[in-house]
Amino acid sequence: MEMHRHSLSSILASGCAALLSALLVAGCGQSGQCPRSVEDFNFGWRFCLGDESAYAAEDFDDSAWRELHLPHDWSIEGEFSVFNPSTPGGGALPGGIGWYRKSFPTPQCVGKGGRVFVEFDGVFMNSTVFVNGEPLGTRPYGYSSFTYDITEKLHTRDSVACVQNTIAVRCDNADQPNSRWYAGCGIYRDVRLVCVASTHVAYNGMFVSAPEVHEDKARVHIEASVEGGRADGVEFCIRDAKGRKVASAQAQAGQGEGLWSADITLKNPRRWDISDTYLYSATALVNNKGILCDSYTVRFGVRTLAWDADKGFSLNGRPLKLLGVCLHHDMGCLGTAVHRRALERELQILKRMGVNAVRTSHNPPAPVLLDLCDEMGFVVMDEAMDMWRKRKTRYDYARFFDEWHVTDVQDFVRRDRNHPCIIMWSVGNEILEQSDSREDKLENLSAEEANLLMNFIHTLGGSNDSSENNPNILLTKHMAQLVRDLDTSRAVTAGCNSVSPQNNLLRSGALDVYGLNYHPDLYDSCRVWFPGKPLLGSETVSSLNSRGIYFQPSTNKEKQPLKWWMTYDSPHHQCTSYDALCAPWANYHEEAWTAVRDRDFIAGTFIWTGFDYLGEPTPYSWPSRSSYFGIVDLAGFPKDSYYFYQGEWTEQTVLHLFPHWNWKQGDSVDVWAYYNNADEVELLLNGKSLGRKSKTRDFLHAEWLKVPFEPGKIEAVSYKDGAEVAREARLTPGEPASLKLTADRSVISADGYDLSYVTIEAVDELGRRVDTATDMLQISVEGAGELAGVDNGNAASGYCLKGDLIPLFSGKALAVVRSIKDVEGTATLNVSSSYARVKLNIMSK
Ligand code: GAL
Repeated sequence: MEMHRHSLSSILASGCAALLSALLVAGCGQSGQCPRSVEDFNFGWRFCLGDESAYAAEDFDDSAWRELHLPHDWSIEGEFSVFNPSTPGGGALPGGIGWYRKSFPTPQCVGKGGRVFVEFDGVFMNSTVFVNGEPLGTRPYGYSSFTYDITEKLHTRDSVACVQNTIAVRCDNADQPNSRWYAGCGIYRDVRLVCVASTHVAYNGMFVSAPEVHEDKARVHIEASVEGGRADGVEFCIRDAKGRKVASAQAQAGQGEGLWSADITLKNPRRWDISDTYLYSATALVNNKGILCDSYTVRFGVRTLAWDADKGFSLNGRPLKLLGVCLHHDMGCLGTAVHRRALERELQILKRMGVNAVRTSHNPPAPVLLDLCDEMGFVVMDEAMDMWRKRKTRYDYARFFDEWHVTDVQDFVRRDRNHPCIIMWSVGNEILEQSDSREDKLENLSAEEANLLMNFIHTLGGSNDSSENNPNILLTKHMAQLVRDLDTSRAVTAGCNSVSPQNNLLRSGALDVYGLNYHPDLYDSCRVWFPGKPLLGSETVSSLNSRGIYFQPSTNKEKQPLKWWMTYDSPHHQCTSYDALCAPWANYHEEAWTAVRDRDFIAGTFIWTGFDYLGEPTPYSWPSRSSYFGIVDLAGFPKDSYYFYQGEWTEQTVLHLFPHWNWKQGDSVDVWAYYNNADEVELLLNGKSLGRKSKTRDFLHAEWLKVPFEPGKIEAVSYKDGAEVAREARLTPGEPASLKLTADRSVISADGYDLSYVTIEAVDELGRRVDTATDMLQISVEGAGELAGVDNGNAASGYCLKGDLIPLFSGKALAVVRSIKDVEGTATLNVSSSYARVKLNIMSK
């Protein structure tokens, strides 16, 4: 039976690969049946938006509630409104309080002394979980993954095999604004039900690292934390990517309670690299009285990481410039509801652009994103949070920080530290504690706050150095130490936008890599201010572009809004797609890239952002409600800058000509081309040459200014040593006459998760694309699928992304078709406009 990738990956991510480990048990010298089982717990839930204490009760009648399956984000189903308390900065969608309920039988392991856990990869936010009416706990931070042992709350009846229980989850996202971007609402990540024997490996309780790596061998260090009783022995077993056992060892009981560890020599290790994502697995086999009582498997990779103040970052001894993007966690019209395929598509689009690194701005991502980065070959800067004790929005995580940060940071590192893709931990983004304010003096703190900080000093071993009495420096050391207590194999960094020697995070000495947000003009000074420290462009660019929108002339470069607290206004709420508009603290694509390209000591760049995201519609406010920063728009359609990076970052031949060629007589139009692998580009208008142009070292496109528009064909031809390399044309179309539908996948799995992304384009009678079309579309799906979302990439569109109406924007729109679990057959997508009615069939099987 084929195991679906979604469930396999989420199971692996949780470190609970029961199915896999069951396969792996035989051959490791063990016998018997491993009792660990992992169930996809996403199906069969009911949901209600509202809040009554009765919803927690076991006997509450929820039959009128809506049936759905997880992951689910209720916010994305709402209407955009300026009155929603999230504000346009938070995506202008509704928040509130919602409940989920599900009934399920008591697992059989309970009668046999086993334990039952429910694992949540993430609930936004302030979730409280109840089983049979009894509360298990509350978890404020919506990005943390967590588990509850629910065994004692379950019903048991000796003679009855199947007894029903109720789980209820309350999600409270009512206090807003609490985020500088769209965060979503609900159980938006996977949930699993895990059954284990009473003695078992703890949740995220295994850590595999390779502290010494040579050509012919590697020392692999494995630790497993066993809880719920004493184990007689633990054996570790390493398997290669084909599942063949390659090494094993008996673990030693360590100093900590239930901690077992071993060093294992792995012969001729195959490295994990971005171009060869080789993954091993390690299994802990736990024995009690001669019986196998748990088998727990995680994936890992063998690779070396190095940072150098002069040469940047190296992977496996080879310098690797980090060509990265920052990503927020929403998936456009799907909101934050995690779909493996949506994330895989995002990464595929970025890979084709030449991206090799991802920053999970500004929070722990869905575990499946890290699985995909492991498999697809991206290195990752895994980030913990956007604020510490000082808030950025009224109700944000700062209000939970003192009570929760230790748990949240520890859970974050424990969950993610086996992923070979992760090369550094970021303890925060643009933390306001970078600089001091008057009240930051120790003597100005309340007794409670001072006590908290004195505790940090204590955990850090104390010091008489007066700078250590600066609470913000102390806090930085404390945060870095929390990470290092659990993983010393990776660098600790932070994204700092206050680039100066006075920055508390930088001067604390606690960071291994100094993450600089923006300010490329200070890169050279940083080398002087922070000698011997590796430097990284942890956040760069923040250019502002709308796909397919071109303001003339392109030479009119602007930084808007003039100051960060101002908003910029224009009737159209769009940004030009020429590289000519960026935020005031930011840089245009070309200038930001050259600053990083020309400095080996800057380890790389993380562009703000790879994809557009909901919220933060800089430079505008309402009715704009999503970002303009993306290189790819919210629907997943590349903007022109995509081809700029593809040309600079890949070997693939690129020639990208823009803008479209659908102007009015009398218009004069600036024409640009991004290209590579060529010396020059010639522009031809209706066959007539407008001359050859070239890039220079710092001017990275060819341009022909003020070209008088005439309908027909504009064409670019690139040449190397006089020979033609590539050719691209734009045609003037007639009126839109039909719609062209193109699915990224025409066959999907009937598992309720899989997706087909269908691009809808307006074409004229001759099939020529109409890149300026804005016609309204009506969209529906019939048969073995459902419409999961619609979009067009317009950051100022007011249409509901879960609705069935969406206009074309710059000639394009998107419909996302999702399969229905266990419903095989044809899903038919119907799209109609005033001039066309078209269909596309997708097979679900
Ligand atoms: C940065 C910040 C990001 C985003 C960006 C927009 O300062 O870290 O989260 O707000 O600005 O330019």
